[in-house]
Amino acid sequence: MTKVLITGTAGFIGYHLARVLLTDGFRVHGFDGMTDYYDVALKRRRHQMLLQNDGFTATEGMLEDNAAFQSMAADFAPDIIVHLAAQAGVRYSLENPRAYIESNVVGTFNVMEAARELKVKHLLMASTSSVYGANTDMPFAETDKADTPLTIYAATKKANEAMGHSYAHLWDLPTTMFRFFTVYGPWGRPDLALFKFVDAILDDRPIDIYNHGNMYRDFTHVDDLVRGIRLLIDAVPVRPEPDAEIPAWDSLSPAAPFRVVNIGNSDKVRLMDFVEAIEDALGMKAKRNYMDMQMGDVPATWANADLLMNLTGYKPQTDIRDGVAEFVTWFRDYYNK
Ligand SMILES: NC(=O)c1ccc[n+]([C@@H]2O[C@H](COP(=O)([O-])OP(=O)(O)OC[C@H]3O[C@@H](n4cnc5c(N)ncnc54)[C@H](O)[C@@H]3O)[C@@H](O)[C@H]2O)c1
Repeated sequence: MTKVLITGTAGFIGYHLARVLLTDGFRVHGFDGMTDYYDVALKRRRHQMLLQNDGFTATEGMLEDNAAFQSMAADFAPDIIVHLAAQAGVRYSLENPRAYIESNVVGTFNVMEAARELKVKHLLMASTSSVYGANTDMPFAETDKADTPLTIYAATKKANEAMGHSYAHLWDLPTTMFRFFTVYGPWGRPDLALFKFVDAILDDRPIDIYNHGNMYRDFTHVDDLVRGIRLLIDAVPVRPEPDAEIPAWDSLSPAAPFRVVNIGNSDKVRLMDFVEAIEDALGMKAKRNYMDMQMGDVPATWANADLLMNLTGYKPQTDIRDGVAEFVTWFRDYYNK
């Protein structure tokens, strides 16, 4: 039975990925530090649910604790590592940049060391659409230059991509980096817009609408996202021959078994359409508090998802209105609101 070590299993995406892999018959070991960046009770609840499955075991610990991480990884001896644990969040990186350096740079290095030591068949790690930074050509493609990160969050993820490339090259470690685009869905993160908007509207509090609503996001439903990850596990990058011609659509490195893959819906949704979808799902109107653009934020994201399609035959497709309605149902049920 294939063994997968997932970091960040008490988190939003890690929880959903672990569920899918367990259903598909993998053995999964989760590693998570239960950081208090947001509600730890929600994280514990996600882990409790996973622990009901016999195929799931877990270790609580911080990525930065290298000795603990290496010993956990050696004990489990994974075939595959999916590294999702990170200090996430664009806005918090202005307040507490050090947390990003520690979790994302030092933490990711420790994960890569374990992957090298254990010679895993495939290392897959989360990056973000934020690495496209100040790029304005859309949709964003993996083969575009992405050298203008606007926050320390984006910079640490861009650093992870560079670090991943070096280890893939040096140690022949097949590595795939995902660039996720605004992920949403049930069991979602309390620091992200959908959760905050639904919570505020139900409490009759105003919602903050940045850049006066002139924002676009490529929203990706978490079920679509984890299906993409599941399929990419099997799309193991192979180091190309020295003279091989790499197709223009492929981000495969000429020097390493390494590629970067967008996972997004390939659909640019206007912020105000998103707010209306929430209002319709709740049957309530939001009080709008129009604000200027926040420092470090970008007005739009939009994924070119052709590479994911070419590698896996899969394209995310959940309609935003259906996904928002599903989230609202989960939220009202879970929080009894
Ligand atoms: N959700 C999105 O829209 C989105 C978009 C782009 C990229 N990403 C990336 O996807 C990954 C997963 O994101 P998520 O939305 O599930 O976030 P999340 O915050 O819900 O999950 C991250 C988990 O990692 C754990 N963690 C954080 N720092 C740790 C550390 N130093 N040691 C051990 N555990 C630690 C946290 O306790 C948490 O449970 C992250 O790498 C994030 O940067 C997410």
